[in-house]
Amino acid sequence: MLEGVAPRLQHVRKLLAHYVGCEKQDLALVENCTSGANAVLRSLTIPANSTLIHLTTAYGVIKNCMQHRAEECHAHVVEIRVVFRGNGAAPCGPNNTSLAEAVTAAIDAATARGEPVVFACFDHIASCPGVLMPVLELANACKSRGVPVMLDGAHVLGQLPVEVTRDLETAGVCYWISDAHKWLFSPKGSAVLWVTRSHQQTVFPAALGAAVRSARSLAAFKESAIQGLSDFELRFQYTGTRDYTPYAAIEAALHFRSLIGENAIVSYNHEMALWAQRYLAEYWGTETLTSDEHTCAMGHTRLPINTRAAATALSDMLKLRHNIHVMMFTLAPACPRMQNVDSSDNDTYWVRGTNQPIKIIIIIITMKMLIPVQ
Ligand SMILES: Cc1ncc(COP(=O)(O)O)c(C=O)c1O
Repeated sequence: MLEGVAPRLQHVRKLLAHYVGCEKQDLALVENCTSGANAVLRSLTIPANSTLIHLTTAYGVIKNCMQHRAEECHAHVVEIRVVFRGNGAAPCGPNNTSLAEAVTAAIDAATARGEPVVFACFDHIASCPGVLMPVLELANACKSRGVPVMLDGAHVLGQLPVEVTRDLETAGVCYWISDAHKWLFSPKGSAVLWVTRSHQQTVFPAALGAAVRSARSLAAFKESAIQGLSDFELRFQYTGTRDYTPYAAIEAALHFRSLIGENAIVSYNHEMALWAQRYLAEYWGTETLTSDEHTCAMGHTRLPINTRAAATALSDMLKLRHNIHVMMFTLAPACPRMQNVDSSDNDTYWVRGTNQPIKIIIIIITMKMLIPVQ
């Protein structure tokens, strides 16, 4: 089983552990964040009438999985609203509270109702808008109330330098997931799951493989494939016959990045995103969404349009004429702004530019052409 690829996967985990600042034995390779999140959520003992919390910005898959687990266990999910005030302001909670205060209040309210919070998941960098969340403050708020935290870092690897042990674990994060196939540029089907050691015993891969009962099935592996691995590492190393090359290819992705320089890539993308969002805001006479420190490599600018029909037409033109897909989203117009699920024609319309160097230039040129300044 696995043959020569096992030592390569272990080498990849060693490289990745160094890259994100954690121990190799606490880091597993998983196919994607969906399977990482499932491994964590299925490991939880969720008492009836307890509460799970996430933010309104949580990715759909995460919301679905949490809702599913909550329903299975007769528990509740509480969603905490993230408010985007626009004009370059940091995201906050409702009524001008900080997000950490909103989380603390939600935990205390649930406890007072007799429905204690047993798990919290926060976006590390949210998907849409692609904003860096104040994750250390959020994790600290949960830690002070004994609530274990998972960070959904799907967009983090390659977009934002991270020190898992020093920063995240110290702040109280117990689980962290991140895709390597987004910003690190390894092939689709490569992601990581980090679990703090005290929580590893109950975390199993979404598909149980040969090493789940490690003592009994180790005979199927060559010694070189299993030597020195913990139970947690063994469980995630082999999850059935499948293509393990996306995992192995992470080594090449990291090597490519080292040739250019990690800092050079990350700061270039960050600076470009800041420049691009400001450039478009000034050109259109609109505004940027959030502050520089909450912007990584995805910039957000309000579009100079105010109807759903115009947004749809713009999106169609970009797609059909120019073969460009740009994420657009709406926010309710009145303060406090919030992410809106059922948009109406009074909403403000925003564009999320993901900054990969050539792409952002093409998007800017095309959008300037389609929406010229008045
Ligand atoms: C914030 C966030 N979380 C989770 C996911 C799910 O990742 P995957 O499709 O790799 O499982 C995505 C995908 O885009 C995402 O943006």
